[in-house]
Amino acid sequence: MSTVTFEQIFNASPDVQASAPGRVNLLGEHTDYNDGFVLPTAIPQQTTVYLGSSPNPQHHIYSQELSEQVSLSANDPIPQGFSSYVIGCIRTLEKQGFSIPPLNVFVTSSVPIGSGLSSSAALEVAMLRALRSRFNLNIDDVQIAQFGQYAEQNFAQVQCGIMDQMASSLADSEHLLFLDTRTLDRELLPFPTGTKFLVIDSGIPRTLAGSGYNQRRAECEEAAKLLSVSALRDVEDVSAIASLPRPLKERARHVITENNRVLEARQGVSAERFGQLMNASHASLRDDYAVSIEGLDTLVALLQETPGIFGARLTGAGFGGACVALVDSNAQIKTAIADVLTRYQKAGYQGKILVDRA
Ligand code: GLA
Repeated sequence: MSTVTFEQIFNASPDVQASAPGRVNLLGEHTDYNDGFVLPTAIPQQTTVYLGSSPNPQHHIYSQELSEQVSLSANDPIPQGFSSYVIGCIRTLEKQGFSIPPLNVFVTSSVPIGSGLSSSAALEVAMLRALRSRFNLNIDDVQIAQFGQYAEQNFAQVQCGIMDQMASSLADSEHLLFLDTRTLDRELLPFPTGTKFLVIDSGIPRTLAGSGYNQRRAECEEAAKLLSVSALRDVEDVSAIASLPRPLKERARHVITENNRVLEARQGVSAERFGQLMNASHASLRDDYAVSIEGLDTLVALLQETPGIFGARLTGAGFGGACVALVDSNAQIKTAIADVLTRYQKAGYQGKILVDRA
């Protein structure tokens, strides 16, 4: 990556800049598009967007990490890639009745891409914050999340839930954000006493994520239809799913048990119990939801057997990406983690620490 600035690319100074963080989800995976509950937190890595006026009728969007510029006129089709999120945000606001003149946009980010840490939501929220500030738009942080999700679903073509954008817009890195994705009621909660979390990249890109994600979503909708509920969130007792065919029964069981795990954690549980809930979440994602893969299972198993780690699981959509572990903040686990990464390498993979957060 070459380090250039807005000034060097556009021969002018930016009018505004805005940032937004990536997120890691501690509990509540694949529950958001089932109207369920999630428990993410913000990570220190951020995306920053700089905005200035374009000297001509086109938007010009530059990514520092990709060293790539895309130029687009108002009615041009949206290309795939990073610019679809940026243009998606502009077109979403235009659909809402705001008028956005041609812009120069400069994007830079330290959020890892493709690791399940919501680099796309961070870009959408940073872009919408920058637009809000540049044009004094009367939109609040929840609308920013909703517009970001709309942009992703309609312009980047990913049928995501609302968790990532809500986390990027409303979470901080000192708390867990408990979110009811149906009502958008939320609450900032403390981490379990005496813990910190670690995020470790499995080194496996999430290649199947798009198709697998949309398929799981469709399976959940089918299961809800067969159970005559508007979303799986409305089923609290697993005995209600006995009549479902495979694999809908397994998919529904994951969603129901995962929602119950988030609700239990929300009550404020010990670090040990929180870790057990994370371990159970991983098993459920692996066995019932079938979104884990061998590499993630290997890394999670190594983390789970490490003294000083209360629990570990894959985080994000699955099929690759990162794992999150809840760690005893008093334990000296540097050597143990180095050992985990060495053993993971012996199994044929290349992992690395992405976040080590007190
Ligand atoms: C992706 C989606 C989220 C959520 C997670 C799985 O990150 O963007 O909406 O569904 O997967 O929990």
